[in-house]
This record gives sequence, structure tokens and C-alpha cells, in this order.
Amino acid sequence: MKLEAVKTIGVLGGGVMGGGIAQVTALAGFDVVVRDLTQELIDQTHDAIFESRWGMKRAVEIGKLEFDQVSEAIPRISFSTDVAALSSCDFIIEAVPEKLELKQKIFQELDAIVKPEAIFTSNTSGFVIADIARDVSDSRKTLFAGMHFSNPVPTMKMCEVIYTPETSEETIETVSGVGERAGKAISMVQDAPGTYGFLLNRIFAAARREADLIVDAGIASEEDIDKAMITGRNWPAGFYGDRGGIGKQW
Ligand SMILES: NC(=O)c1ccc[n+]([C@@H]2O[C@H](COP(=O)([O-])OP(=O)(O)OC[C@H]3O[C@@H](n4cnc5c(N)ncnc54)[C@H](O)[C@@H]3O)[C@@H](O)[C@H]2O)c1
Repeated sequence: MKLEAVKTIGVLGGGVMGGGIAQVTALAGFDVVVRDLTQELIDQTHDAIFESRWGMKRAVEIGKLEFDQVSEAIPRISFSTDVAALSSCDFIIEAVPEKLELKQKIFQELDAIVKPEAIFTSNTSGFVIADIARDVSDSRKTLFAGMHFSNPVPTMKMCEVIYTPETSEETIETVSGVGERAGKAISMVQDAPGTYGFLLNRIFAAARREADLIVDAGIASEEDIDKAMITGRNWPAGFYGDRGGIGKQW
């Protein structure tokens, strides 16, 4: 499917990442359907998109978005507990918890109900994309890619696009195009069997391992390592102190 044909995006899981992904894709002009398991979870996602620290209301208050942008984006987002609500979506972004079996099961289920030409993507932090796509049909495998956003999605520009040997050129272009339209800077990454973490998380983990070796050898303290990375490399946070945006603690 070409980028111009993508009108409706289905977001699976309205948690920390799914809510942010719904927000940026609706602001980019796509219709968005968010699916989560219960009405209570959907209400939380709704509040996160509109009222939270990174939500649309505050973005207008602090001048990051225009009122008109937000009022146009709001009606584009709908919510459902029913997976069938995603059946006519052109493009799926999955953001359910980081459990390989859960993602495999969900994509197998979606493969049967979502129209055959729709593109499937996963926001996994690092599972091999071909493993996540294991149980979908061969034709869908050509439409399958990774799309790894960074938290908080409304403010972090990074998006890794991960392609497998089976991902078609057109799918790679469309996935990158959706990310770019959502305001993201795309880094292309080849799917790598037997690894975890694509580009960002692998490099960060390697640096963290080195930092731990330095601490364990008594060469420097955690505080001094954090201080050096923050003041010497302009990192917003170090390895050990308050990590700000990681996880749900925003
Ligand atoms: N939080 C981060 O900093 C971060 C950053 C990048 C990528 N990720 C990845 O994004 C994914 C989601 O992470 P998160 O932090 O948003 O998790 P989260 O726990 O905040 O949200 C996951 C949501 O998925 C829902 N869910 C579970 N099963 C579902 C199903 N069958 N259908 C629809 N919804 C379902 C849950 O109810 C929950 O609301 C994970 O793969 C994670 O590794 C997370």
C-alpha cells in the first residue's frame, strides 16, 4: 500500500506508547482507532491524549500546537474495546506489552480480520520483527515492519523503521512516510535474528554495560558517571539517577 492510500491507522494498546502514537498520527491527519481491553483503560488513554503533561491541551497552552490543529485532530481519534473495529484500517501500529507470545497471537488474530492489503507494524522495543510476524500469512509478511518510537512520543522525534528480508520496498517507503508525516526522524534498521534492541536500545545497553564495569571496578561513582554524561555529552539524563521519561513515571 502506498502512503497516499493510508487514511486510517489502528493502534493496538492505548498505554504509554499507544496513546502518544495515536496523538501524533491524528495530528498528522490520519484517522485513528485505538483498541484497548476495557473501557477504563480507554478512558485513561483518552485522558492521556487530551489532558496529560504531553497531551494536546497542554501543548496548546504552552504554544507547541495551534488550537486549530488540535480541534481538527480530536474528532479523528476513536476508541474501541472490540478488535473488529480495526478490520478496515489501512495501517496497524501495535503497542501492547513487551511479550513475544502476546504480540504473535495478536498479529495472527489481526491477520484474519484486517483487510489483506493493510500494513502491520510493531512498536516493540527490540524483538526480532520476523519472530513477531511468525504466524501471519506469507502475503502479510511482505507488509510487516517494525516502527519503534521513543517515549514520550509527542516530544521525542526518533523512530526506527525495521525491515525484514520479506518486507516489500513499498511497505518500507510507506512505513517511513507515515513516521515522517507524524514528525519523526527515521532511522532504518535491518531486522537481525538473535538480537534484541535494534539500534537505539543496543547502543544504550552497551554504554550502560561499560558504565557498570567502571562502577564495579571502583573507577568512578554512579553520580560522577551521570554528571559526566549530562555535562560532557549534553545527555538529558544519565544511567543511574532519575531517568525521566522511561516507563510510566512521567
Ligand atoms: N514505555 C516505553 O518507554 C517504550 C518505549 C518504546 C517502545 N516501547 C514498547 O511499546 C510497547 C508498549 O509499551 P507501553 O509502555 O506503552 O506499555 P503499556 O503497558 O503502557 O501499554 C500497553 C497497553 O496494551 C494493552 N493491551 C494488552 N493486551 C492488549 C490487546 N490484546 N489488545 C489491545 N490492547 C492490549 C494494555 O491494556 C495496555 O493499556 C511495548 O512493546 C514496549 O516494549 C515502550
